[in-house]
Amino acid sequence: MLKGKHILLGITGSIAAYKSAVLCRLLVTAGAEVRVVMTPLAKQFITPLTMATVSQHPILVDFFNPENGEWNSHVKLGEWADLYLIAPATANTMAKMATGVADNLLLTSYLSARCPVAVAPAMDLDMYAHVATQRNMEQLRKDGVHIVEPGSGFLASGLVGKGRMAEPEQILEAVKAILAEKKKSLEGKHFLVTAGATIEPIDPVRFISNHSSGKMGYAVAEALAARGARVTLISGRTSLDVPQGVERVDVLSAEDMWRECVERFAASDGAVMCAAVADYTPATVAEQKLKKGDSDMRIELRRTKDIAATLGAEKGGRVLGGFAMETENEQQNAQGKLERKNFDFIVLNSLRTEGAGFRGDTNVVTLIDRECQEELPLMSKREVAERIVDKIENFL
Ligand code: PMT
Repeated sequence: MLKGKHILLGITGSIAAYKSAVLCRLLVTAGAEVRVVMTPLAKQFITPLTMATVSQHPILVDFFNPENGEWNSHVKLGEWADLYLIAPATANTMAKMATGVADNLLLTSYLSARCPVAVAPAMDLDMYAHVATQRNMEQLRKDGVHIVEPGSGFLASGLVGKGRMAEPEQILEAVKAILAEKKKSLEGKHFLVTAGATIEPIDPVRFISNHSSGKMGYAVAEALAARGARVTLISGRTSLDVPQGVERVDVLSAEDMWRECVERFAASDGAVMCAAVADYTPATVAEQKLKKGDSDMRIELRRTKDIAATLGAEKGGRVLGGFAMETENEQQNAQGKLERKNFDFIVLNSLRTEGAGFRGDTNVVTLIDRECQEELPLMSKREVAERIVDKIENFL
């Protein structure tokens, strides 16, 4: 259920921090990768060594490593996480979250997080019941933060009442439910995704094509389907398996891809154009294998139809995203394509960047729309796909 999920576990200064080790172990056992960020006070309640051991990663507390000055980037943590879980969350930390105070790494990570955030409050019963705490929790709820309700029982103060952090097993169930909810955010929506290379025949044995493997487009299709969307993947030739829950339509040429896309676009909620489509195709296709002679040969090429531009002209309220594969003047060319094809956003990848582009499992992209642009670090194509789907959700 949590396999491959990135969970950022925040620990604040509460006696309930002793349960965080068990919680972390449960998350890791369920398949999640867990990174732990602690407030300075939390270290008084559970040691970084314990948390580093159970999470299998060094613990983050300070903005930088005092030994070597290395920066602990809260922005990167916020980008990395699929879920930010703060357990235990003290009244003090929740008050700061509710008002946007950012005076430690745990809080700056909260302000940078793009993923769902959950808190498991832990405090004395009177602190929990206090109008200020309740007001702050209400604010957090309005801000979209999930609250894993505390239980009732013996408290560190010796009193009995509501304020005990939920048990690790209950928090694990809440984490699963939150991630499942995120998954279903596109239920009822239908998207087209183009992927792979088109093939433009010259004769029965030769063709013009390119290096696209389809991996980027298949990752986008998979990420959309994982969030509950119905996905039609219009795919050039590839050796990839059809992602779970995705309908694949196989095509060969740019003309075939154009036809299949145009036919389906009106009934969809949008499209992501990942395919590397031939801009030119042989003007005629020889019926028999072309024989070589002594002189050079010329093949006359004619323009293919621009699929993205055709869909862009009929876009209406649908979301249309495209890619730009560039080798020079990257920004300028991508901006030009965004406008000409009437994309809502374009994903720029450059062949000049190591780890980006064709065939590999990673990409380095800049997401560009009319308001802003965002450079992402080297990521797996699946992670890039998640970010693209986040963007689509924002447009919807
Ligand atoms: O498949 P992989 O090996 O994983 O590689 C991924 C990728 C490099 C192919 C992918 O990330 C990518 O950049 N795809 C777009 C490649 C491309 O053809 O870009 P372009 O700049 O030529 O085209 C701009 C946009 O118009 C693209 O969205 C393209 O799909 C679309 N287009 C182009 C021509 C055409 N006739 N019809 C189109 O729809």
